[in-house]
Amino acid sequence: MKFAILALLALIGLGIAAAAVLWAAFPRSIPAPESRVEGDPAQLARGRYLVNHVALCLSCHSERDWDRQSGPVVASTAGQGATHTIFSPEDAPAANITPFALGDWSDGEIARAITSGLNRQGEPLHPDMPYYVYARLAESDVMAIVAYLRTLPRIDHQPPKASPPFLISMVGRVLPKPYQAKPMPPQDDSVARGRYLVNAAGCRMCHGGDLAGGMRLNIPGGGSVTSVNLTPHPKARVMGWSREAFVAAFKAFAVEEVRQLETPRDRNTVMPWIQYSDMTETDLGAIYDYLKTVPPVAPDS
Ligand code: HEC
Ligand code: HEC
Repeated sequence: MKFAILALLALIGLGIAAAAVLWAAFPRSIPAPESRVEGDPAQLARGRYLVNHVALCLSCHSERDWDRQSGPVVASTAGQGATHTIFSPEDAPAANITPFALGDWSDGEIARAITSGLNRQGEPLHPDMPYYVYARLAESDVMAIVAYLRTLPRIDHQPPKASPPFLISMVGRVLPKPYQAKPMPPQDDSVARGRYLVNAAGCRMCHGGDLAGGMRLNIPGGGSVTSVNLTPHPKARVMGWSREAFVAAFKAFAVEEVRQLETPRDRNTVMPWIQYSDMTETDLGAIYDYLKTVPPVAPDS
């Protein structure tokens, strides 16, 4: 009997020791890549495009003006971080990603944060940072994003630190997901290009994994909106639009007067119309072409 209790205690002790070793050892299991950014004009232009109009990094990592259509980024706060994002009103403030905060990080450390969700020390980030989305970006796009972040005006600002839930931290440590670079889709294959962009732009974060919509999202400052069904089901309204109408719905927000429109907060939307409206017509058309190929899902009502 005594022996059994001792053995049990020894087992528990071993278990705790093993957990401690795992905790300490695992974050370092994904080394930061050695890659360096060149920062040539073409790379910076691609990075600017992705950060502002596709991956929408600054929509979470800045303050936003919710008195105007789709809450444009307040330019003077671009990248300084935010006390909350639309997904987590409280527990996950977004970090400062201007050179003030990332100046000492290597290019590889920033790339690892974007694609594997680990901070500079190798500890898991809060999953509101959608690294699982960016883990499927081509390497050239990740490096373009890093290069562009280096050029953001430095803003001296320290948002509160996010604290990932314990369980998620543990899973992030024990089962870290290394970046699996995807190839750049062939530029003349519109469906492949659209598939890549729908991922990179995080459409599923709000329209759901099956893109069937129905997610209720809070508008900061009041009210809520429900995302719509983007699958080509005959009863789903949006994909009944023509390709031209789809592209035009986005491009309607590329007009300065529309961007300046004051909008009551409870009638605003979190759909990032203004941010996406600067995507090229080729890219918006590719998104439409891809959405036409996803499995149709019937709308709820
Ligand atoms: C949906 C909101 C959201 C989007 C979009 C987003 N982030 Fe984040 N990001 C966060 C949050 C929240 C954190 C803080 C996580 C933490 O500290 O645990 C974060 C953390 C980071 C960090 C780590 C900073 C540090 O000091 O540890 C980097 C780097 C980063 N994001 C870069 C980016 C880049 C680049 C993009 C676009 C490709 C992006 N983020 C898009 C929400 C977002
Ligand atoms: C931050 C959340 C969010 C993201 C990200 C998002 N959407 Fe939306 N989207 C919404 C919400 C909420 C609505 C419904 C309210 C509205 O129409 O503004 C919506 C509506 C739409 C509509 C329908 C407009 C109409 O008139 O019915 C289209 C088309 C659309 N989204 C496409 C996309 C595509 C394509 C992406 C990715 C490139 C995307 N959305 C990403 C939240 C989002």
